[in-house]
Amino acid sequence: MTRPLIIAPSLLAADFARLGEEVAAIEAAGADWLHLDIMDGHFVPNISFGPAVVKALRKHCSLPFDVHLMIAPADPYLAAFAEAGADLISLHPEAGPHLHRSLQTIRALGKKAGVVLNPGTPASVLAPVMDLLDLVLVMTVNPGFGGQSFLHSQLPKIAEIRRMIDASGRDIHLQIDGGVTAATAPLCVEAGADTLVAGTAVFGKPDYAAAIAALRQPSGMVA
Ligand code: DX5
Ligand code: ZN
Repeated sequence: MTRPLIIAPSLLAADFARLGEEVAAIEAAGADWLHLDIMDGHFVPNISFGPAVVKALRKHCSLPFDVHLMIAPADPYLAAFAEAGADLISLHPEAGPHLHRSLQTIRALGKKAGVVLNPGTPASVLAPVMDLLDLVLVMTVNPGFGGQSFLHSQLPKIAEIRRMIDASGRDIHLQIDGGVTAATAPLCVEAGADTLVAGTAVFGKPDYAAAIAALRQPSGMVA
């Protein structure tokens, strides 16, 4: 059985002076989800935006909001992002201190839950929390900035996690984030990804619909 590849443009590369227009435009251009990168200047060396911005954007976009937390600690802010309109909340195990508890909290808030693996984080951290997951996000850059180069070294880990997900029998998305372009997207899909995040490769292009279509090549479907 095949299903459509999910494209989640990252707002980090949008024009921050026109965010409402940007999210409306990306929905009109055929995006499937909106990826929102939350950075605190502590867990990662960059600051982006918080729940007030997420809440304000909810009125301008009906796509699922895929919130990627790069903040530590994350637990004190989970309810705020849920109330702001997140549909899915992902966090890094290193944000600590209790990954299992954080995932339980996200689910108790009625939201989908994801774990994000940095390039230096092994797939083995997933095994004890597999039953709480709706998504695994594999970073193909170190988190903190858009526009970095795709780390091909992560492709075997993507394939390893695809095997873990299939063995679990659970419906868990496998998402890739960092350096995803029309050139690297097929490598991600071939390794087993079903959801692609792209910032620069979408918001950095003049024609968002064409940019999203380019990421869906060749077939736009995943196994
Ligand atoms: C990086 C963020 C990414 C970033 C991707 O820490 O998690 O979502 O926006 O940007 P590109 O697609 O430009 O690599
Ligand atoms: Zn991200």
